[in-house]
Amino acid sequence: MNTTPVLPSGASYSDAARDHLWMHFTRHSTFEDAASGGLAQSVPIITRGKGHLIYDDKGREYIDGLAGLFVVQVGHGREELAQAAAAQARELAFFPLWSYAHPRAIELADRIAANTPGDLNRVFFTTGGGEAVETAWKLAKQYFKLTGKPTKHKVISRAISYHGTPQGALAITGIPGARAPFEPLVPGAFKVPNTNQYRAPEHLRDDPEAFGLWAADRIAEAIEFEGPDTVAAVFLEPVQNSGGCFPPPPGYFQRVREICDQYDVLLVSDEVICAFGRIGGMFACEDFGYIPDIITCAKGLTSGYSPIGAMIASDRLFEPFKKGMNYFPHGYTFGGHPVSAAVAMANLDIFEREGLNQHVRDNAPVFKSTLETLLDLPIVGDVRGAGYFYGIELVKDKTTRETFNDDEAERLLRGFLSKALFDAGLYCRADDRGDPVVQLAPPLTIGPAEFTDITGRLRSVLVEAQKVL
Ligand SMILES: Cc1ncc(COP(=O)(O)O)c(C=O)c1O
Repeated sequence: MNTTPVLPSGASYSDAARDHLWMHFTRHSTFEDAASGGLAQSVPIITRGKGHLIYDDKGREYIDGLAGLFVVQVGHGREELAQAAAAQARELAFFPLWSYAHPRAIELADRIAANTPGDLNRVFFTTGGGEAVETAWKLAKQYFKLTGKPTKHKVISRAISYHGTPQGALAITGIPGARAPFEPLVPGAFKVPNTNQYRAPEHLRDDPEAFGLWAADRIAEAIEFEGPDTVAAVFLEPVQNSGGCFPPPPGYFQRVREICDQYDVLLVSDEVICAFGRIGGMFACEDFGYIPDIITCAKGLTSGYSPIGAMIASDRLFEPFKKGMNYFPHGYTFGGHPVSAAVAMANLDIFEREGLNQHVRDNAPVFKSTLETLLDLPIVGDVRGAGYFYGIELVKDKTTRETFNDDEAERLLRGFLSKALFDAGLYCRADDRGDPVVQLAPPLTIGPAEFTDITGRLRSVLVEAQKVL
């Protein structure tokens, strides 16, 4: 039986995707015959998912090693989430949160507030992560205008960080290649070093505490340099994604918190990836023991069964908005969409019923140690991360930590690894926005058997990769 579906026009899905779909962050030349000298690949088309497995249009099975895009925490094919969406669409498919409210958004805000640390009790819904980041910067600016510090508007974030693509969020993003085509961006966003321990200054490489303090103090330095009266907020991911999963060194966030308090600068914990069990806790700031002023989140809140994001602010930040004619002139038609809010509630029910947070906490050390068995390969320089979120850095020379030049990285990642991993039945990310890394962030439901399976597939592909170089 031919399982490959075609469109009514007779075109294959792959050809129609090549001809009409504009894929995100995608080099379309990969799929164009002429541009790629006759070596065109067909667009991979994923048609369904079940648990931690996904299937393509040819019926082939893959491990979803990236939970879609750090999203599908509870795994694919959950009937109860589909039911929750359908039931809500029947009852009230849409209503905005513009001066009116609907029950699902209220329930979800209440539940989120019950799960956040400190007094982060005020939830502003968006449709995704970039909008949540954008919202946080706008709130920071307006908050300081309303509280007598109108010149505080600048923001600080880290090198190679990713905070989304709207122009404000993109200014906060620290990936040069993602920013350059859109310059000039929103002014006022400054960068400090990230917490890549593997690439830390030589004298700090073997001393995580000292490195953490050094990296945190770069934030104080940037605030001093820009002028404390001009800086509104610092945006940090609990574990930085781009560059390949940099966990915070011990003491880092505690020192950052002190610095933010000292200079009256808001600490924004951008948890678009790290919230909802990715590191273990509902919010990753809990995992690392700090209380931010704002949390931004999205992705795992619904496990991707419907889109939603949120900016969660402290009571202090909401205080001026309770008064007189003050209000936040900001919103999104689909922010807090009833169907998404209903799905989020049902998704959080699954977390509680199945003890997913504890499952991640219990299994994360096994996941990490299983991946670390790859360190015997000459090409594997570092394995790092936390929870169910790991990066494997590939190096040219393990002793010197020398990385690949641009041509080699291109040949390795795009020319070989991405496709070879997929052919080996593992969907994950081979990325070179920092140094070359393979990243894993699977659904939170998997356990030791799948860790071994994933690691075995990685090993066979990485062994081959060494020969390609
Ligand atoms: C930390 C962080 N912030 C913001 C975003 C942007 O989220 P979205 O793609 O939903 O706009 C992402 C996306 O991966 C992210 O990882």
